This record gives sequence, C-alpha cells and structure tokens, in this order.
Amino acid sequence: MSDNSIKFTGLGHTIVDGARLPMDSEPEIVSLRPEKLCQYIGQKKTIETLKIGIEAARQRNEIIDHVLLHGPPGLGKTTLAHIISNEIGGKLVVTSGPALEKGGDLIGMLTQLESGDVFFIDEIHRLSRSVEELLYPAMEDFCIDFVFDKGMHARSHRFRLKQFVLVGATTRVGLLSSPLRHRFGIFRNLDFYTTEELETIIHRSAALLKQSIDNDGAAELAMRSRGTPRIANRLLKRVRDYALVKSDGHIGRRAVEEALELEGIDCLGLTPLDRQYLDTIITYYNGGPVGIEAVAATLQEETDTLVDVVEPFLLKTGLVIRTSSGRKASQSAFAHMGVGCRL
Ligand code: ADE
Repeated sequence: MSDNSIKFTGLGHTIVDGARLPMDSEPEIVSLRPEKLCQYIGQKKTIETLKIGIEAARQRNEIIDHVLLHGPPGLGKTTLAHIISNEIGGKLVVTSGPALEKGGDLIGMLTQLESGDVFFIDEIHRLSRSVEELLYPAMEDFCIDFVFDKGMHARSHRFRLKQFVLVGATTRVGLLSSPLRHRFGIFRNLDFYTTEELETIIHRSAALLKQSIDNDGAAELAMRSRGTPRIANRLLKRVRDYALVKSDGHIGRRAVEEALELEGIDCLGLTPLDRQYLDTIITYYNGGPVGIEAVAATLQEETDTLVDVVEPFLLKTGLVIRTSSGRKASQSAFAHMGVGCRL
C-alpha cells in the first residue's frame, strides 16, 4: 500500500491510495464508514460472499472476480468498494459512468492500474455503448484494443493491463446490457437495512463522533432513516447539532423528534418529497393508478429521481404499489397521509 492520499484528478475520477487517510484530512463521511468486512453491519449474505471470494482468491494467490452491486442510493455500494480495496491491499480508483465520456478516458485510467487495484465505476448503467464495449476485453482478458485513425488509415493497438478488480455500482440493474452483466462473477443486490441494523450503525457512528445517545434515541432515529445508513448518519449529525444547541448535548428520543421535525422528516422517515409524491397520487390522481411520467410532470421532478430515490423505499414499505397500469397509493399511504381511503 502506498502513500495514504486521495488524488482528485479533475476529470470526475478519484484515486484513493491506502486504507486510511491522515486523521486531519479525513472527511467525516469516510471516518464513519467501516473499513473492513468484519466491521460491516447488515447485508449479511453479501458480506459472506465477499469474505469467501476474497479469502479463496488469497489462498489461490489470484484476484477476486469482478463485483456488481446494485440497489437504491446510500445502502453501501461505494463503502463496499473501499472495503474490497482495503481487504485486498490495492489502491481504489473511483469514477462514474457519465464521467467516462470517451474511450480514451477509460484507457487512460485502466492503463494506470496495478495488479490488485480496485477500479470502481459508479452509475455503471450510464456508460456509453462505445466505452462499454472497450470494457468487455478489459474485464475478460485484461487487455484493451485501441483503434487509431479511421477508414483505410485505421490501426489498432493492444494494451496489456494488470489484473485489476472492477466493482460496478448501479441503482438500475435493469438498464445494464446483458453482455456487461454477465462479465461480473459476483453479482449482489443491496437491500434496505432493518431498524435493528440501523440502531447498531447509529450507536457505532455516535461512538466514533464521541456523541452520547441512549437506546430510545437510537431506536427513534433508526425508525426515521428510511432503511438507509447514509441517511441515518446524516440525520445523526443534525440531531447532534440540535441537542448541543437546544439542550444538554445528549441525544434521547425527544431530541430526535424535535430535530427531525425541523428537517421535515416524519415518524416513518418520509421526506417532504416522499410526502409530495404520495399526496400527488392521492389527491391529483385519486389514489392511482397513474404513470410515473404524469407524477413527475405534476411534481416538476425528474422521473429518474422518483424512480431511483423516492420509489424504492415507498414500494418496500408497501405505501405504493406498482401495477401494470401505473402506481397506486395503498391503504396505509392514505392512512399515513391522513386522508380517508377512497380505494
Ligand atoms: N456506516 C455506514 N454504513 C455502515 C455499515 N453497514 N456498517 C457499519 N457502519 C456503517
């Protein structure tokens, strides 16, 4: 492992060298992240699969298969890429589908990888077709064919690559082409965390922040974190500020309730946008069924934001139902929004 630094390349890519940053340059978000698989809370089967894959590769002196992680935002896809690189001792190179505009962008990054490095592509479903096709031989045979010039002057040069691990992350696995999907040996869906898992994560994060919190406070915060560690950690910081300024600094249930009311987070953890989405279906479209495009137009929101960020949790908790004719609000959504059910 090398010189413990993060390099921002200015091209939408980041290179993370080493498992840890010096304490004073470590952003708080990184310090709340687990660094090793044994510290990871939740996603038991995924963690077990990764432990086995990494240990088997270590025993055979090989590298682990490429890993595809999919699921809603904030459930740990990026964290797991960091952990995989820490576990196998390579550096982590981070980029995203939209940042890799041209084939040259990808080639530039791949040719700098060392053996055992982890190449993380976030939003991998947004790679252009031409970049995606360059990735196939890179994943399969660790080589890349670059074509110079066009027409009768076209020449191709084959670059040999070091054996890297590709970790791809996506919120929309259905948009991935099947040739790309099939080149990943490990393919895991990350699901929402249980309230108990989030409570444990909140206690761990509070300890790292040297913040006192009791069980009731952690339970209330966990209930309102939409099954998502990133939200739990973000809200923990808001409640921590609130408790410091408005009371004695300790986090109990009351501090959580008051601070989250200010944030517009309700007792189920729904955000203002979640509630606007439900309200649109209930009051504009009589509870549905209604197409997502119509809801997005009424809310003046991007359809992708609703599909990627808002809907997964509402579907998981049964507040919204997806039917062949569109989205419907469930009876529990009517009850939660305080509207008489018209179903
Ligand atoms: N912090 C954020 N996500 C976490 C997780 N899954 N386990 C432990 N700490 C975390």
